[in-house]
Amino acid sequence: MNKNRPFEYKKRNMNIWNEVAPRYHNRWASANVGPFQSTKRLVESVDVQKGDKVLDVACGTGVVTKVLTKKVGKSGFVVGADTSVTAIEIAKKWNDRLSNLLFVNVDAENFAFKEKFDVITCQYALFFFPNAIKALCNMRKSLTNSGKVGISVHGHKDRVPYFGNILDAVTEFIPDYIPPGSPSLDRYGTKKALKDEVKKAGFSKISVEDYVFTYSPGTFDDYWRNYIKYVAKPIKEKIGSLDKSQKKRLKEKIRDNTKPHTKRSGIIKFPWEVLILTAKY
Ligand SMILES: C[S@@+](CC[C@H](N)C(=O)[O-])C[C@H]1O[C@@H](n2cnc3c(N)ncnc32)[C@H](O)[C@@H]1O
Repeated sequence: MNKNRPFEYKKRNMNIWNEVAPRYHNRWASANVGPFQSTKRLVESVDVQKGDKVLDVACGTGVVTKVLTKKVGKSGFVVGADTSVTAIEIAKKWNDRLSNLLFVNVDAENFAFKEKFDVITCQYALFFFPNAIKALCNMRKSLTNSGKVGISVHGHKDRVPYFGNILDAVTEFIPDYIPPGSPSLDRYGTKKALKDEVKKAGFSKISVEDYVFTYSPGTFDDYWRNYIKYVAKPIKEKIGSLDKSQKKRLKEKIRDNTKPHTKRSGIIKFPWEVLILTAKY
């Protein structure tokens, strides 16, 4: 693989997150719908105590951070870390201004804090790191000897049809829909794959819980319209470059894929698998 690829991928990913962060925050993260029911579960799974020092890696617009600050109280502190400047700006506005809450722009693969943390969380981001092992080793190094980590990821695309129904069809029409050199976003979408990666970083007492949430995007037309509306610009442009008949065929193919999840009323109800891993230093 070209050795600049991870760098190019990261740059592209940072641009994407700077662009989509406001839409992501409004539609998903702050709305607490579908997979975001995991925010509460993730925080519960690491059993945050008053006075704990917590790091939220790839904190995005700060939804997990917000729950964490309530748990640690005034005597603890929380650091939210993310590479997207726009996401961090939203996180600062959306969270209360507290002297024990800090947001920083850092790369999960390249951070070092003087402070050791009691708990580290990372929701829906591990699969974005091209060198996830490096990020996991960083997390471990930043924990106290009795520290805990909590990581949530989406399940494999076959168990997250919201993504899979579109991806399976779109990659037939646009083979480079996912740019070459991008890490596969569902490579940790099974309990085993996730556990094995975390084990390689030296963590112990690893356990993975599997949750299936429900998400209804409305009718098929709502699903497709909102997908196009909320997706990142480069992806929107690729779909926009198809001619009229290709677009029509693509849409029909996706419609077919959604049929097993479409109720008689025409409303789609997708299952959405989420894996939550906890481990100790
Ligand atoms: C799906 S969002 C999740 C955000 C947040 N944890 C949440 O649950 O809403 C993924 C986040 O990962 C961040 N991210 C991607 N690569 C990163 C990296 N190498 N280091 C730090 N953050 C990264 C993105 O900027 C984005 O905010």
